[in-house]
Amino acid sequence: MEQFIMKGGTPLHGEVVIGGAKNAALGIIAGALLTDEDVIIENLPDVRDINVMLEALKEIGAVVERIDRHTAKISAVGVTSVSIDDEYIRKIRASYYFIGALLGKHHMADVPLPGGCAIGSRPIDQHIKGFRALGAKVEIRNGCVQAAASEGLHSSHIYLDVVSVGATINIMLAAVLAEGRTIIENVAKEPHIVDVANFLNSMGANIKGAGTDTIRIRGVRRLHGTTYAVIPDQIEAGTFMCAAAATRGDILIKNVIPKHLESITAKLLEMGNTVYEYDEAVRVVGAPVQHPTDVKTLPYPGFPTDMQPQMSVTLALADGTSVVTESIFENRFKYVDELARMGSNIKVEGNVSVIDGVKRFTGASVNALDLRAGAALVIAGLAADGITTVRDIVYIQRGYEHFEQKLQALGAQIELVDSEREAQKFRMKIG
Ligand code: EPZ
Repeated sequence: MEQFIMKGGTPLHGEVVIGGAKNAALGIIAGALLTDEDVIIENLPDVRDINVMLEALKEIGAVVERIDRHTAKISAVGVTSVSIDDEYIRKIRASYYFIGALLGKHHMADVPLPGGCAIGSRPIDQHIKGFRALGAKVEIRNGCVQAAASEGLHSSHIYLDVVSVGATINIMLAAVLAEGRTIIENVAKEPHIVDVANFLNSMGANIKGAGTDTIRIRGVRRLHGTTYAVIPDQIEAGTFMCAAAATRGDILIKNVIPKHLESITAKLLEMGNTVYEYDEAVRVVGAPVQHPTDVKTLPYPGFPTDMQPQMSVTLALADGTSVVTESIFENRFKYVDELARMGSNIKVEGNVSVIDGVKRFTGASVNALDLRAGAALVIAGLAADGITTVRDIVYIQRGYEHFEQKLQALGAQIELVDSEREAQKFRMKIG
């Protein structure tokens, strides 16, 4: 079983280059199904979830050519099936984007109910509400979402009851080829929403208002091919910003859009760290002593829930008491029990955690329970005295490309090992 083993206590120094945004690329890959012409997607992160999505496209008849590790050429003209049934696709949340794209292009979709990280109940009622408003019949049968619109889809005025990233993107995918003018209100405004909308517009769609509370889509008859580069990953960048602070290091984080990181920068500044912003980079210098602060996760431009575990680990080493409120998912504090093995002092009550900062963590053996919790525990291990092993790193590899190599380049003593013998060799090596 692959695991990360690391010796902590080394402040991270140097430069890291951020890859493409996973949560934008997932919607963009599904969007390639909306045209019969070639779509070239650049700056794709080479991570597990992306590779599963590309494999699923092949399964329904699309031709997927990997031009290089970060570029794929997709031709969906040969799609013969609207039914995706793959054991892997069941495991990733973004499989739901195939519903919107197949419904939009082929007026029919049969896709397994999505899986993903167990950070909360995660229903898709808002997705289904949107598809039905566009004229589709939608049923859940045999663990699959079966949607059909034999007469084609028509425009509609949809109000989302919950600000949902997935529902916003999925309804956009379904509505771009629907006759008439669709209005979607109370939508999510995350950078990946805007990136998917820009991608669809580069194929000839007519989407306005992405990044605001209301999106307006005028349906078009067909979409053409395109070449599109995915934006940098806000959350990968934020993860390295917290790694710099928690290890009291100094990292220049390159290929980012600083505006997307403002809420994370604000919290690190409140803690007394130094953050320099450049055009396409940010530099974080971790302060020796950091102040506590309170964080509440919110939809963008609020503090991202996908940064909550990493920021909590950083606050757990601050000089005082912080309060973290998780307002998006009801079960996103599972890592707290793992972090307690490393000597943290955190109490959780419902969706609130009270973090009493400690001077230092001590190394331990912990489990990555989901993608962001796993990344947070790696940061904790790099800040800790002694050796830490993080198991179940398959979760981390779902969303972080070559995480250990990027950390090694910053001076971290970390290795990916797949046996106890290799782990022992690491322990011997670092003495
Ligand atoms: C996306 O998940 C991201 N996943 C998540 O990132 C991220 O945490 C989340 O947005 C919030 O930013 C992908 O993009 C693949 P939501 P999603 O729909 O779409 C409720 C990561 O680490 N809701 O915005 O599932 C839902 O239960 C992952 O990269 C409904 O009630 O999130 C939640 O409480 C983890 N009904 C809230 O809305 C619905 O139909 C926000 O969920 C849809 C959502």
